Amino acid sequence: MNLDPSLLKILTEAQSVTALTGAGISAESGIPTFRDAQTGLWAKYNPEELATPGAFLSNPTLVWQWYSWRQQLIREATPNPAHYALADFEDLFPHFMLITQNVDGLHRKAGSRTIIELHGYIGRVRCWDKGHTFDYWHTGGVRLPECPVCSSILRPDVVWFGESLPMADLSAAFEASKNCEVFFSIGTSSLVQPAASLASLARERGACIVEVNLDPTPLTSISDYFLQGAAGAVMSALQAALAS
Ligand code: OAD
Repeated sequence: MNLDPSLLKILTEAQSVTALTGAGISAESGIPTFRDAQTGLWAKYNPEELATPGAFLSNPTLVWQWYSWRQQLIREATPNPAHYALADFEDLFPHFMLITQNVDGLHRKAGSRTIIELHGYIGRVRCWDKGHTFDYWHTGGVRLPECPVCSSILRPDVVWFGESLPMADLSAAFEASKNCEVFFSIGTSSLVQPAASLASLARERGACIVEVNLDPTPLTSISDYFLQGAAGAVMSALQAALAS
């Protein structure tokens, strides 16, 4: 892949870089994206019937069946070169923050440590009443999983439609977007707020916007660089060019 020398120069001199990722970065790990999923992940389900608090209260068993299926899909998934490149960026730039909309945990599996999981993590649960969180829970039998501390029902620790994002994560994401010299937007359709506004926030503060996507998105027209291609190939090429 031919990378613009002016971009490489900017990255070589950059002290602070922020990256936002979406489902597209995990596509090459075999996890269907949300927009692709009209034929894949969500074709079988109506998201409003599943990924909302109302859906969970009205049919927790169905929602848990869907999440158990997704958790199995994610357990079998492994990071791809794009995840590893971003883990490498942590050591490459003096100040680096990774913000992800993905709930698959693949960035952490690839070794990323400075990470904001804006929409939570599907491999973790929290209880409905008190918010006690657990990485492991009893899933046996026909009963729904209950909190071992307060006995209220357990739910996946992810942000559902209609729910607000954790304030601490959101403000950290805003700070990282306001205070960077380069902002990467990788594998996201740039449609869902508030994540979709982070790039504009960075641009308002003078950051160089670099978009990596198979196709143009609403962000493309205001990006300084649009690296069109699969995240695995593009991020690997960047990683190699910056390491040389
Ligand atoms: P989408 O499914 O909306 O968009 C995936 C993007 O990745 C699209 O722009 C694709 O063109 C691009 N893409 C697909 N494969 C790619 C590849 N191999 N390399 C590079 N780009 C690729 O997923 P998100 O933008 O992440 O919210 O969706 C944002 C949010 O919408 C999700 O976090 C979810 C959903 O509602 C919640 O669950 C709260």
